[in-house]
Amino acid sequence: MTSQAFDFAPLFPAGLPAPSVKWTGSPKYNFTGGNNDPDQIPIDGLLAASNAVLKREGRTLASYGLASGPQGYKPLREFLATKLKNDAGIACTFDDILIVSGSLQALDLINSVFLTRGDTVIIEQDCYQGSINRLTRLGVNMVGIPLDRDGMRMDALAAALADLRQKGIRPKYIYTIPTVQNPTGTILSEARRVELLKLSEEYGVPIFEDDCYADLIWSGERPPALYAMSKTGGVIHIGSFSKSIAPALRVGYIVAGWDVLSRILAMKTDAGSGALEQMVLAEYCAPHFTTHVPKLRKGLRAKLETLMEALNEQFGTAAEFDDPKGGIFLWVKLPDTVDSVKLYQSALRAGVAINPGPEWSINKPHSQSRLRLCFASPSHEDIRQGVATLAEICRKEFGVPARIANVERAAT
Ligand SMILES: Cc1ncc(COP(=O)(O)O)c(C=O)c1O
Repeated sequence: MTSQAFDFAPLFPAGLPAPSVKWTGSPKYNFTGGNNDPDQIPIDGLLAASNAVLKREGRTLASYGLASGPQGYKPLREFLATKLKNDAGIACTFDDILIVSGSLQALDLINSVFLTRGDTVIIEQDCYQGSINRLTRLGVNMVGIPLDRDGMRMDALAAALADLRQKGIRPKYIYTIPTVQNPTGTILSEARRVELLKLSEEYGVPIFEDDCYADLIWSGERPPALYAMSKTGGVIHIGSFSKSIAPALRVGYIVAGWDVLSRILAMKTDAGSGALEQMVLAEYCAPHFTTHVPKLRKGLRAKLETLMEALNEQFGTAAEFDDPKGGIFLWVKLPDTVDSVKLYQSALRAGVAINPGPEWSINKPHSQSRLRLCFASPSHEDIRQGVATLAEICRKEFGVPARIANVERAAT
């Protein structure tokens, strides 16, 4: 008897996402993703915290949800309530916070309680790929609002809301990354925050505030969160430890009133997010967060300067960008002749990974010659070499830049 391999394919229902591609290792020069700096992980502090909290409270691991209930480890929520009050002006208690498995889970949970196929949401035109992909998969219509140096443009938002109202459409939410936007690195000014809240109230459309980069502003000073400024409670706020401590921990959080949080909690059916990570974070962050973050910011700023210098040297005026106000990304515009998706493919073959603009925008023509570079994880040396390699590929494929590192060369 011959045994044939079992065929699972006919059992998969229609509408599943395309299958994943097998991971084959990291490229030599990796400017993709939201990774952080490996040299800035506070390993000793996390080790000490882990030891201390496990010795003291390890027995609570015997219960789902520890001894804290379904919203997550209470000392972590208490740390967050204090931090959010001090930094973002949010007056909440630990009870208004739900710990989730990275803010990606927050996106899924919030989408699952608000959205059905055919709904409309408003987002920033250049936006986090994880959010765009989720909305696309859900069959939701996205209305993109352009940004300038002060973040989402309120004139364009007002026009979009008026237009939708005229068509009888009430969007389900306005999704924004107001404090160090991904990918543009802009910060929504306080005056615009006031306008945004006014528009949200006028049109009865809640705001979904994704604030995961707020700890990484170079100046260390951030405007108050929209959640803090709202007088009606029409804001849902999410955040993460991915950018301030480490993405692989997978710890994020949602802040919302109980009317919404109770619906979200009912959708979180995984019996709680990983307990060890929450315990270690709470133990580490309470005494160390405020000293760790300024050091992290300083290191990230230095890497950004290396990246901007390398781009200026290798691309000259062919690479245009604004110095971002914080974060881990640079949003770069190359000449219109450059197709960043094609550049991505050629660059990858040469060991340089970049994020092509169209994956981070719902305006494809606007983003076609743009790319996003993450500067947090590559070393200074890899940033320099990676940008030099990218410039060489760009010149060969697209004839720009004509000058590389101040040496005039003919396109080949
Ligand atoms: C704007 C934004 N939201 C959410 C996430 C998800 O982060 P995590 O799930 O690691 O908290 C990211 C990650 O890069 C992001 O850029």
